[in-house]
Amino acid sequence: MIRVCPDLEALSLAAAELFVAEAQQAVRDRGKFVVALAGGNTPHRTYELLARQPFREQIPWQNTHFFWGDERCVPAEDQRSNARMAHQTLLDHVPVPSGQVHPMVCNSSPQEAAAEYEALLVGFFAAGSPRFDLVLLGLGENGHTASLFPGTSALDEQKRWVTEVSVAEEGLRRLSLTAPAINQAALVVFLVSGYAKAPILRKVLENTRAPDGIPARMIKPVDGRLLWLVDRDAASLLQP
Ligand code: 6PG
Repeated sequence: MIRVCPDLEALSLAAAELFVAEAQQAVRDRGKFVVALAGGNTPHRTYELLARQPFREQIPWQNTHFFWGDERCVPAEDQRSNARMAHQTLLDHVPVPSGQVHPMVCNSSPQEAAAEYEALLVGFFAAGSPRFDLVLLGLGENGHTASLFPGTSALDEQKRWVTEVSVAEEGLRRLSLTAPAINQAALVVFLVSGYAKAPILRKVLENTRAPDGIPARMIKPVDGRLLWLVDRDAASLLQP
């Protein structure tokens, strides 16, 4: 499903409302809400809104568990750290128990760090599959999502839940949930804003016969829901 919002502010409000609704429902149904956060710029405002009223008081923080969809292998205080961004915009301002916040940590080699995060998830999801209640994702202009970049071996991963990714252009290593892991989620929400994303959004959503290789197109929840929350600029090349 695609929902087009007038601008980034409206998109962020819609995402915050959805976060609250999903959190309340998950806690009513299962006693906890498990979310994987996205990095990038687009979710900043959503995270800020969640940390403020009226959203803040509606979220069952004591029952909410935070994971990440991806991370750069940089020190925790580095500007490029996704965990740092989420702390600054959201987590440092809300009463979530610190033991329920699980950043991807890259102290060891990326391979070891990926294996450690996968072990953490395996321990957490006793049912045997990573059934996040909500996975937030962004979309890169080259079609990447989380840290699943075009042309990387991460895209071939069928069994693992977490993988290391080497992004040559950046000279950086990253960690990412794999597409098979993300696809176990109950709900996956892409947040996409701005004209620069319009061409790739069109490719991802409309050109269904194009050869694959666009990582975002690998996101197809097995028995969950998929929502694209996009703003008018990003949607400007979609067929009406
Ligand atoms: C990250 C994410 C990445 C991001 C997209 C979109 O950068 O941490 O891994 O997948 O969500 O690149 O980023 P923007 O929201 O900044 O456009």
